Amino acid sequence: MDFNTIVPGKSGLAGIDADALLVLVAGEKVPAALEGVLGKVLAEAAAQDDFAFKDGQGLYAHRVEGVKARRVAFAWAGDAGVRALRKAVSAGVATLKKGSVVHLAVVVVGAGALQSAAAEALVLAIHDATYLYRATKPSAPAAPRLARVSLVCAKEAQAGLDAALARGQAVAAGVQVARECANRPANHCTPAHLAEQALALGKSHGLKVEVLDRKQCEKLGMGCFLAVAQGSEEPPKFIVARWMGAGKGVAPVVLVGKGITFDTGGISIKPAAEMDEMKFDMGGAASVLGTLRAVAGAKARVNLVGIIPACENMPSGRAVKPGDVVKSLSGQTVEILNTDAEGRLILCDALTYAERFEPAAVVDIATLTGACVIALGHHRSGLFSGDDALAAELLAAGDAALDPAWRMPLDDEYDEALKSNFADMANVGPRAGGAITAAMFLKRFTAKLRWAHLDVAGTAWRSGANKGATGRPVPLLARWVMSQAASSKAAPKGKAGAADRPTGQSRKR
Ligand code: BES
Ligand code: MN
Ligand code: ZN
Repeated sequence: MDFNTIVPGKSGLAGIDADALLVLVAGEKVPAALEGVLGKVLAEAAAQDDFAFKDGQGLYAHRVEGVKARRVAFAWAGDAGVRALRKAVSAGVATLKKGSVVHLAVVVVGAGALQSAAAEALVLAIHDATYLYRATKPSAPAAPRLARVSLVCAKEAQAGLDAALARGQAVAAGVQVARECANRPANHCTPAHLAEQALALGKSHGLKVEVLDRKQCEKLGMGCFLAVAQGSEEPPKFIVARWMGAGKGVAPVVLVGKGITFDTGGISIKPAAEMDEMKFDMGGAASVLGTLRAVAGAKARVNLVGIIPACENMPSGRAVKPGDVVKSLSGQTVEILNTDAEGRLILCDALTYAERFEPAAVVDIATLTGACVIALGHHRSGLFSGDDALAAELLAAGDAALDPAWRMPLDDEYDEALKSNFADMANVGPRAGGAITAAMFLKRFTAKLRWAHLDVAGTAWRSGANKGATGRPVPLLARWVMSQAASSKAAPKGKAGAADRPTGQSRKR
């Protein structure tokens, strides 16, 4: 899909040459700026209660006399804020999706000049509204024909909005990568498939990609990752992908994504109901690939490393058993009391591996706990970090990108739950505070890192009739990573790199 800006000519909106015109109406009455026949249509509809200046309101008009675009849709856009616009666009596009609209023009009326953030959100909303999973469903309806979207604006605003549209496009492409990847069933999306996706992305977008196999991971000493992988016939893959947009010597940002391509629970097996949804347990990994796609697509001047430990969690004669003790890459030992708490086991070795990049910051992303869904539901992801500055950056990025998170605690008191008589720590605590104890487990592997953890168990996918991956938290991550580029005077490697800096202490950048 292509996006551009257009400036209306002498005949105004009525003269715009497109298959459809989507008018996003802000305010409480017919905007003065809505000239001529379009204003009349809306005023008449409002007078007859066919349209109201209220949430969720829309109106469709076919072949309005004097209007070049043969389809016109109106949608109420509240105060024209970023959130309201997103909602209005989704409703408007839903109205127009059925038809054969190839070229759509979108205009916001009744508000001040369109902000960049709004234009960016608009691109994401349109992609979102037109996304369709087809990979394993030949009977799916043909993809919507929408190929071109023109944002109507004033001449002075064009340059700024064009840049915003391009940024939005890069992020939308990243979201798309994440959704496609996460929606694939587990017999298609295996650890090897994730590795292939990473390699393909490397080829198309200039990433350096390495894939470590079981032998190499053994040699390194990734005992926790391999303990999870050992129950499956699918060979594990440890994927490392690098985007070097800032050049050598600049400390990278590292993203670590949980890549469990299917989580049966292992010997601590899960109940059957909804177990199919555990194909989404690689949503963290998918978001890392998606963010790499977004950042590389935008050619952001930042160094970004994506690390994905990928394997299945299966029960078998070779599977790890409750009570087994394994040794992590960090040297610390872990008593695996519950084999279903596997995410933290693959992440802890990946976090230790991240140290070698002397990163400016590390964020791990994981569909880690059902407890996080109980705590926060499906609207906000759980954010955990001992670093106030990093937490604030991530929360702000999430709010701005309409992909919000909520900070959760990491007090030392929660660590008690992980005591073990047989190893340095257990992999689970009691049920209460399960999202926090999972984060406390990870924290034990981050002493040398400036680190944050995103639990996306409630936000990475939707259940029910609209079951499917959301692509979250790619918008949050892409915005945050790109903001690192904007302010990037990141320290040269080895000098003031994160490895030399105590956690909890933020660095001026
Ligand atoms: N992948 C699950 C977490 C999950 C469960 C996400 C349901 C979304 C919906 C994770 O590996 C898991 O099984 N966690 C356990 C941890 C427990 C054994 C301490 C959980 O949340 O029940
Ligand atoms: Mn599990
Ligand atoms: Zn899991």
